[in-house]
Amino acid sequence: MFNNVTDNNDSINEESYAKFSSFLEKQCGIVLGPNKQYLVRSRLVTLKNKLKISTVSEILDKVIKGYDKVLINLVIDAMTTNETMWFRDNYPFEILGNRILPELSKNNSNIRIWSAACSSGQEPYSIAMTAYEKTPRLVLPNASKISIVGTDISDSMLEICRNGVYDDFALSRGLSESRKNNFFEKISDNSKELRVNNKLRKIVNFKQVNLLESFNLMGKFDVIFCRNVLIYFSPDIKKRIITGLVKCLNPGGYLFLGSSEYISSELIADALEMVRFNPGIAYRKK
Ligand SMILES: C[S@@+](CC[C@H](N)C(=O)[O-])C[C@H]1O[C@@H](n2cnc3c(N)ncnc32)[C@H](O)[C@@H]1O
Repeated sequence: MFNNVTDNNDSINEESYAKFSSFLEKQCGIVLGPNKQYLVRSRLVTLKNKLKISTVSEILDKVIKGYDKVLINLVIDAMTTNETMWFRDNYPFEILGNRILPELSKNNSNIRIWSAACSSGQEPYSIAMTAYEKTPRLVLPNASKISIVGTDISDSMLEICRNGVYDDFALSRGLSESRKNNFFEKISDNSKELRVNNKLRKIVNFKQVNLLESFNLMGKFDVIFCRNVLIYFSPDIKKRIITGLVKCLNPGGYLFLGSSEYISSELIADALEMVRFNPGIAYRKK
């Protein structure tokens, strides 16, 4: 039976922490910042127990040396699997707010947006903030409404999404002070954690969806974000998921992928056209 608690053996000295931080930034772009030893410990302690390595520091030392590629991959995975941030890459939210929402709001129908594989909720809540910033009372022509569904496979991520409470570290990644003030509330005087306010909660719902399963119960959407998750899948599964997502789009609806993800040309030719915005691209259902 593995023991999942950290103990004093898991303390990380300044030098190891500094080397590991710069290693991680080079490998996958995560900037830990100062004094986040607790974060590294909490992410790696399960791996330590699973691999029967005696301390978290030993994992860091091996990783920093750079020889054990298998361990390096496991550590990066543990540090990044649910990696997300507010307004990630910016351009999808700019395009949504400046181009797509104005275009869709001319139609006489409600606007439905799906954030698939939404991790801890930053993406669907960023979509909701974008919607409020463009149409402050969410009153669109013809009184149509905007609603957002965030889905993920992970129970623990969905719990964070539904609680809508974020710590200092999560809040420091991509969220401006004015957005913090407009869309978050304090949970107590002596806590730095903030909770998304009712405005956002009102238009965002969460649901467990495994992208490898059927989307039949999801209904139709005008915009789908499926970002930074297809990279984990084989080409066949990726194709199956994209085909399923396209079926869920209304004609003229948009699909956003992660900035390093793309759809092969034969799939685009059948169902989608690539729309170049400046900056960024999206795929539009024909
Ligand atoms: C790197 S995060 C991406 C979060 C967000 N979309 C973004 O771009 O910031 C990947 C998410 O995909 C989820 N995921 C992995 N496999 C999945 C699957 N088969 N079905 C649904 N979600 C999955 C993970 O739980 C994780 O939260």
